[in-house]
Amino acid sequence: MNNLRTSEQIRAEIEARFGFFPPFFRPALTNPQVLESLWLQTQFAYLYNPLPPLYKEKLLAYLARYCAVPYCLVCHSCTLQSLGLGGQAVLQLLAAVPPPEREVEQYLQDCYLQTPFNWSDRLDPVLEKGLFYGAVFVFLDYGGHYGDYLRELLGPIIYQHLVLLLTYTKLCHGWVEAHPEIVYTEDRRFQNYFGSLLAEEPQLAEFVVSYQEQVRAERCSRAERLATLVERKRNAEALQQMTARNHLLAQAVDAVSEGVVITDPHLPDNPVIYVNPAFERVTGYSSQEVLGRNCRFLQGVRTDPQTKQTLHNAIARNQKVQVTILNYHKDGTPFWNELKISPIFTDEGELLYMVGIQSDVTGRKLNQEALQQARDDLEIKVQERTLELERANIQLHQEIAERERAQQILKHQAAELLHAGRVKDEFLAMLSHELKTPLNAIIGFSQLLRTGKLDAQASQRALETIERNGKLQAQLIEDLLDVSRIVSGKLRLELRPVHLSSVIEAALDTVHPSAQAKDIHLELVFQPGSGLVWGDPSRLQQVVWNLLLNAIKFTPSGGRVTVRLEQSAEQVILTVADTGRGIAPEFLPYIFERFRQANCLATRAEGGLGLGLAIVQHVVALHSGTITAHSAGEGQGTTFIVSLPHRHACAPLEPPILSNTP
Ligand SMILES: Cc1cc2nc3c(=O)[nH]c(=O)nc-3n(C[C@H](O)[C@H](O)[C@H](O)COP(=O)(O)O)c2cc1C
Repeated sequence: MNNLRTSEQIRAEIEARFGFFPPFFRPALTNPQVLESLWLQTQFAYLYNPLPPLYKEKLLAYLARYCAVPYCLVCHSCTLQSLGLGGQAVLQLLAAVPPPEREVEQYLQDCYLQTPFNWSDRLDPVLEKGLFYGAVFVFLDYGGHYGDYLRELLGPIIYQHLVLLLTYTKLCHGWVEAHPEIVYTEDRRFQNYFGSLLAEEPQLAEFVVSYQEQVRAERCSRAERLATLVERKRNAEALQQMTARNHLLAQAVDAVSEGVVITDPHLPDNPVIYVNPAFERVTGYSSQEVLGRNCRFLQGVRTDPQTKQTLHNAIARNQKVQVTILNYHKDGTPFWNELKISPIFTDEGELLYMVGIQSDVTGRKLNQEALQQARDDLEIKVQERTLELERANIQLHQEIAERERAQQILKHQAAELLHAGRVKDEFLAMLSHELKTPLNAIIGFSQLLRTGKLDAQASQRALETIERNGKLQAQLIEDLLDVSRIVSGKLRLELRPVHLSSVIEAALDTVHPSAQAKDIHLELVFQPGSGLVWGDPSRLQQVVWNLLLNAIKFTPSGGRVTVRLEQSAEQVILTVADTGRGIAPEFLPYIFERFRQANCLATRAEGGLGLGLAIVQHVVALHSGTITAHSAGEGQGTTFIVSLPHRHACAPLEPPILSNTP
């Protein structure tokens, strides 16, 4: 920067070159560096630029339209005049609207046909337009391949000069726009040429005033055009993409194994407008046969009406639906169609089409049905088996219960047997004792008698003792025989009308000595001749006698035994009550059992086999009567009540009763 020239030096050089000092440089006079720069660029980019002078000036004049101030426009128009262009030609050039890009591109392409070319100011019109507007579009930065074309056409060196000129032009526009004090009226070119230009074309004046509006209008319409173009291009691209996508989709739909049906719900009866190849395979119908028809032709007599209704409802409401419906192939054979129908809407929610996807699921359905059938069969079998098992279980329970019952009975019987065996053993022991006791007395006294040592009184007592013991033994044996008869069912009754009162009197006579011996008071309460029954007198006497003996036996001395005979319309009732030791309540139920006395130590002390009450009960039963024993407890006395049918209630000529087994 040391050898920087002064502004005056530069100014002198500029004036020398132009013959005047253009107002363009004036603002830089205060800044020699800027002035030098402006001047150097003006020289190398413009003045010494090897492009043809007319081309250069035309370009600079035309591009000045895009500058906000008219300085460049006026000055370069004037230069054009100096180069021989008339006013009309200048206006024509300046007012020309830039052609559309397509056209410029076409010019440039056409220029190729003319390469290599000799670039003089006189060029073929197409070539001239191509080079001119190509440069204008590079200046305006319209994009596209204008620069590439020009580089090709002009070669890299000339192309660089062109680019430098265009860049310099931009610099000039910026410079003058920034300095409003630069006015064309002060420029020698205006002063020298503009008057004659206006003389040739007066409208130039108006253009200079209004060119900015025209350029703005041009730019707007160009922007609109551009927007339309961009929109059209975008649409074209979208269309292309859509077509590609549709193509892809169509290929995919054609390739799927499921049948695809598309219907148009806007046409009457929602007819088929497309089917894919799989539909033809699934149904057996060709697309020609189905286009224009409603899909219900696939249904038949066995198609479920409920499923059809489901489809109808969903389709009427434009809703998705999925069913498995029985359809028929073209040859009439049925198949199960798993059908999914979906409505297709636009982004705005407008219904476009309905799409159905079909799958033949016959195999699966048959398997399911077979499986279901097998399950049902199994269920029935399980139920039957369960029922059988339940029944068997109940039966088993019953059997177990029965067995348990039987076991209980067996156990009971075993216990009874054991008990009976024990009772029998005890009875046998007791029997031997009872038989032996009188026998001992008989033998003993017999031996005493045989010794001859007894006096007459003692001998008399010995004989009485022998007789009493003999009778006792006879009675024991008689009782045993009775029991044996009862057990074998051979006890016989000699039945006839009997007055029970006389039977009682006879029995009383027999037991009287015993009562007396124990100082027991015998009380009789009855009318003689009463109590007529149908019976065996000796057996009835045995009954009364046994009861009386029993009472006397178990009543302590000084006690009382009461015998009462009563009579109702039906019954004759004999009561034998004592004031004896009574019977314990737990022993009462067994009082009539055979050999029971053997269990009871208290009664054993009194001697006897304990068969009496058992015989009594049996004999009473043979007379169709009953006997009951009552006692308020030990020491409270005992009462036996015998009830026999009254004589007139018995059949008068009944044959003698043969006893039953006990
Ligand atoms: C896209 C589409 C596909 C259909 N595909 C079948 C089909 O494969 N099998 C069938 O039985 N019904 C199909 N239908 C249903 C019948 O066309 C019909 O709408 C339905 O049986 C109700 O009939 P309706 O309106 O006479 O009651 C389809 C429906 C549509 C909209």
